[in-house]
Amino acid sequence: MNKSSSSKLVEELGSLLKEAQTEPFSGQSLGRKMTDEELVRALRLDLEAEMDAINLYESHLQATDNEEAKKILEHVIKEEKDHVVLFSELLKTLDPEQAEIWSGGEEYFSKALKGGQD
Ligand SMILES: [Fe+2]
Repeated sequence: MNKSSSSKLVEELGSLLKEAQTEPFSGQSLGRKMTDEELVRALRLDLEAEMDAINLYESHLQATDNEEAKKILEHVIKEEKDHVVLFSELLKTLDPEQAEIWSGGEEYFSKALKGGQD
């Protein structure tokens, strides 16, 4: 790979990385406040981010023998799980259809385990 093609690759990777990262001021890019429908979509992304954080911190927990780091990671993982609950509860207040589906979750799960249909 010559220098020009490698610098082009670095530039392209930089652009991809920038797209993948959260834009810190994206919340102001609308030029107005979100509608509740847009907020529901944002909360679904927030839930996804919390789940990703749990996976990331668990992988770091498993990858270290540093006891201090493990205690902090375990503490933060618990907090992220709490955040999942808070975002889920907030989402239920804004998306009644989702709330109804979740309310039957335990029964649906039990039926599925027994091989039943919904
Ligand atoms: Fe969080």
